Amino acid sequence: MTEKPLLEFTGVSKTYISGESQLSILQQIDFSLPSGVSVAITGKSGSGKSTFLNIAGGLDKPTSGDVNFLGKALRHMHDKELSEFRNRHIGFIFQSHILLDDFSALENVCIPSLIRGEPKKNVSRRAAQLLERVGLSDRMDHRPNKLSGGERQRVAFCRALVNSPELLIADEPTGSLDEQSSRGIEELLFDLVREQGKTLLLVTHDMQLARKCAVVYLLHNRELQELT
Ligand SMILES: Nc1ncnc2c1ncn2[C@@H]1O[C@H](COP(=O)(O)OP(=O)(O)OP(=O)(O)O)[C@@H](O)[C@H]1O
Ligand SMILES: [Mg+2]
Repeated sequence: MTEKPLLEFTGVSKTYISGESQLSILQQIDFSLPSGVSVAITGKSGSGKSTFLNIAGGLDKPTSGDVNFLGKALRHMHDKELSEFRNRHIGFIFQSHILLDDFSALENVCIPSLIRGEPKKNVSRRAAQLLERVGLSDRMDHRPNKLSGGERQRVAFCRALVNSPELLIADEPTGSLDEQSSRGIEELLFDLVREQGKTLLLVTHDMQLARKCAVVYLLHNRELQELT
């Protein structure tokens, strides 16, 4: 394939410095994520999976090395440019849903598009369609604290998708749910990714979930190994 990857790491290293001590987490990582592919990153707790995702999504900067997204070097973007870039191109899903309790489910889904300055009417229509797609048409006016864990996570999926980002980044998306709701939510995530032709970068310690992705990597000893 000659097509440019959606996301590319070149020699990415990350070292946390606290006081006198240095903690090297990622070392010289090269990684390429083609468009439309789902990739899982697994590894032990503390191996650096979330660190990797945060760098991939431009939420954190590498100590050295380059991250390119759609051929653009994130290193050269200043903070405002970077947050606009994230808002437009990346949808984030985390283990604990960071929904705003003062707003309804529908309003929570709308927020990323309103930040972009889109007219409220268009946004509301799209958000309602997404909520309907995930089976929450009768929960749109609920505040997040009146929803179940699985329902909140479905709202978070909709919010991640509302700006039609190319890339979905998910960090243990079912980590806080019980086994049965987890499987339902996972299926929904993969269905949405497939239907909407998204690229998925998924972090999980759950091998069964990881294997649903086309490519699986293990983060171990600061390096990324592809599992076959
Ligand atoms: N801001 C920070 N400053 C210093 N050390 C950090 C910081 N963030 C993370 N670390 C350390 O880096 C290591 C990797 O953390 P990270 O959160 O990436 O691991 P993880 O693989 O996502 O783990 P888990 O599976 O438990 O979520 C950990 O040892 C953590 O303590
Ligand atoms: Mg983590």
